[in-house]
Amino acid sequence: MLGEQKVVFSGVQPSGNLTIGNYLGAIKNFSRFSDTYKTFYCVVDLHAITVRQVPAELRRRTYETLALYMACGLDEKKNTLFVQSQVSAHAELGWILDCYTMFGELSRMTQFKDKSAKHAQNINAGLFTYPSLMAADILLYQTDVVPVGIDQKQHLELARDIALRFNQLHGDTFTVPDGYINTDTMKIMSLAEPTAKMSKSDPNPNAVVYILDTKDDIMRKFKRAVTDSEACVRMAEGKDGINNLITIYRAFTGKTVEEVEREFDGRGYGDFKEAVGEACAEGLRPVREEFARLSADKAFLESVMKNGADEAAYYARKTMSKVRRKLGFVN
Ligand code: TYM
Repeated sequence: MLGEQKVVFSGVQPSGNLTIGNYLGAIKNFSRFSDTYKTFYCVVDLHAITVRQVPAELRRRTYETLALYMACGLDEKKNTLFVQSQVSAHAELGWILDCYTMFGELSRMTQFKDKSAKHAQNINAGLFTYPSLMAADILLYQTDVVPVGIDQKQHLELARDIALRFNQLHGDTFTVPDGYINTDTMKIMSLAEPTAKMSKSDPNPNAVVYILDTKDDIMRKFKRAVTDSEACVRMAEGKDGINNLITIYRAFTGKTVEEVEREFDGRGYGDFKEAVGEACAEGLRPVREEFARLSADKAFLESVMKNGADEAAYYARKTMSKVRRKLGFVN
């Protein structure tokens, strides 16, 4: 809580082209909070460098992610949109919370285990302490609600534990946050391997639909999506590919599972995949168009970043001064 107002915080890494998993699982849900909460949406570039980035690409994607936030419906006047590395309190509180996070807790994080396996040449300390920095992001703004996909649940629970631990030792300092996970779209799966999460770092471009893909790309990727041999559009255990396509179709059309099953009763997968592709391409068209308009105006994006960072820093300073006092740092 900030004063009387409840707070929402979330972040997206500018570490690759954003996917419909990022869109449906997270960003699309962000705007529902804009009118009633104080909302902070951050481009988390400090998190992105836990794996090696090409600097020029990181910079470009930072602009792009900010533009995508707005293209997905986040009004910069109603939401604080900013870049993490431009508010130095994130790194500062991150260090402090490192000292309140246990080695054993970090060792249990599944994302750390996955990423260390994937980047075996670069298992750096930042990759390991990533969740304390994420806790800092959230706790800096006295956040009540964190909208994320299910893959972030474990990190979020750790952020809660860190907040509780700190509060217990030093008295009430941080709001203890809750997650907001949209159960319909919390885990969009890869089109090529529907038992795995759709991920922006997937090297197989056919596995992933990017928010900014052209309609032709989208249609082609859905056409190739892995399904099963049953040729029946219904939601069922073991039908991972079809379940995922139904989820995506529902998210773009607002239809229920029953409506989708009825609509495609007696029709083949070819028809269904085409309909999913159409719905997805059509749903993303306004985002794509708005993105093209916004990303042409770099000066505007820079002014949004600057205002967002100033606003975020103002609130972050309040929390930091409380934290410094509690820790015994001399002012
Ligand atoms: P990141 O950048 O990997 O993903 C951004 C958001 O997209 C969600 N997401 C998905 N949801 C459904 N299906 C998928 N296939 C899918 N892939 C990604 C993620 O759950 C996330 O909500 N650690 C975070 C970034 C972060 C953060 C924070 C989030 C840093 N600090 C503070 C919230 C609060 C991450 O790596 O997200």
